Amino acid sequence: MTEGTSARFQLASTGTLPTLQVASGWQQVEGKIDTFVVPVFEGENGLELAGGSASVLTSQQEIELWKWLTSVGAQGSAGEMTDLPGEILRSDDDSAQPEITKILAVGLGDVEELSDDDVRQAAGSASRHIGKADTVVSSLSIFNTEAALLGHALGAYAYSGQKSEAKQTIGTVIVLDTEESSELVERVNIIAEAVAFARDLVNAPANDLYPQAYAEIIRDASTEAGLEVEVLDENELREQGFGGIVGVGQGSQNPPRLVRVTYSPAGSSKTSESSDLPEIALVGKGVTFDTGGISLKPGAKMWDMIMDMGGSAAVIAALIAASKLQVKAKITATIPIAENMPSATAIRPGDILRHYGGLTTEVLNTDAEGRLILADAIARACEDEPDYLIETATLTGAQMVALGNRTPGIMGSAAFRDKVTVLSQSVGENGWPMPLPRELDDAIKSDVADLRNISESRWGGMSVAGHYLSHFVSDGVQWVHMDIAGPAYNTGAPYGYTPKRATGVPVRTIIAVVEALAKEGKPAAPEA
Ligand code: BES
Ligand code: MN
Ligand code: ZN
Repeated sequence: MTEGTSARFQLASTGTLPTLQVASGWQQVEGKIDTFVVPVFEGENGLELAGGSASVLTSQQEIELWKWLTSVGAQGSAGEMTDLPGEILRSDDDSAQPEITKILAVGLGDVEELSDDDVRQAAGSASRHIGKADTVVSSLSIFNTEAALLGHALGAYAYSGQKSEAKQTIGTVIVLDTEESSELVERVNIIAEAVAFARDLVNAPANDLYPQAYAEIIRDASTEAGLEVEVLDENELREQGFGGIVGVGQGSQNPPRLVRVTYSPAGSSKTSESSDLPEIALVGKGVTFDTGGISLKPGAKMWDMIMDMGGSAAVIAALIAASKLQVKAKITATIPIAENMPSATAIRPGDILRHYGGLTTEVLNTDAEGRLILADAIARACEDEPDYLIETATLTGAQMVALGNRTPGIMGSAAFRDKVTVLSQSVGENGWPMPLPRELDDAIKSDVADLRNISESRWGGMSVAGHYLSHFVSDGVQWVHMDIAGPAYNTGAPYGYTPKRATGVPVRTIIAVVEALAKEGKPAAPEA
């Protein structure tokens, strides 16, 4: 199926992001300000305002603001939001200060303990608190302008789906800094757009985002970014031996796909021998809907399974961002896409599938489908002999049992796993390292195939899945598996810069990792 035109496959709906700007003073702010955001802290003697070079307020205005805030009981504690009328910041007639309608004081707690992500989360909360505005000017930049911009942008993302009336949100966010920096704004825009793209894909319902449509959307977005794309259809997948993807996809009327997208900046080459750039493989689970198949899931909450392509969405969004950021690495994304449905043509418990590369799996539970399609994709990705393999998937409910809803489980080669964990923490996606204990590997041996897709025991399900995937990774490839079953999709209330539904995790971790690997350069070849 290659005749799909771009017009036929488009997301029915996308979320909004604000326009971002950095300004060094009132002179650069045009028109009136709907909300002026100021940070406040909880000091030993109560509320404190932030001093600092980016401050545009006169000392008289600061005193006035402090008086008002304390008089309404604001304390500056973390998460506190205080609204005040803009009038209290009346200015001299000759000041360049634009008219301010509202002031929002955002509590940041103890200034000594403030992290980058605290700034991001505060900016995100501020954006959500403001909700709807044409122009927001924010001085949350005091410690980290990038974090303030990104938090405001991600918090302002609003997804209205196919409601007749779309939610209104923030038009422009202007963050104050000592100097303007168009590069910084450009960088934050690229990252925010990547997160928004992943969120849009994950938020899309499965009747819009089925395998063919998803593959064409990835093709269009990648082509537009100047990347090379290859899409294998169900016939090509069968001919080339992708038994895991074909097996999982065979129960659906919407046949499966495998999409490969390559970013090769100058200095990279097709053969790993002659390239002087690190080569990175990305793999992401693309199950557009997971009913469980013949091992059918219960009906309650099954609707959340539109998010079961969250790994693949993060991978393609991060790859496009990496290309826009001109990361010095050759990166190839391998994205298996299938819909897991029960039907007369679906795989059954007990079926044996032969994966790309030849390993076989006895399928004892058709709901453990993610690992079946990832096995093929990982084997294919390793054929290119990458230096690193970063794979991510909404793989197991056990991830949430072990770590909760907001903490990705990170498994794989020990040193690389720990490096990815540190970066995941630094961007605020907060992944945590998980072990692959040997005895859990024994539990996926089969009597009639190389592997079975589930263990008999309930325990350690996240690590069991990690072990299963490890069998498809070639020796010498440093790899990580990030289980994002919980973190990819927020079924609860919004918080910080995280909306309801799709979160965009782990887009920013992947971007941070490929940037870090590119900075390190091609790793030394392991001794023979
Ligand atoms: N897509 C699910 C995992 C999942 C569950 C993601 C809940 C997000 C929220 C995956 O395909 C699955 O069904 N896993 C099974 C594996 C089991 C059968 C070994 C699970 O976790 O129950
Ligand atoms: Mn499943
Ligand atoms: Zn699944």
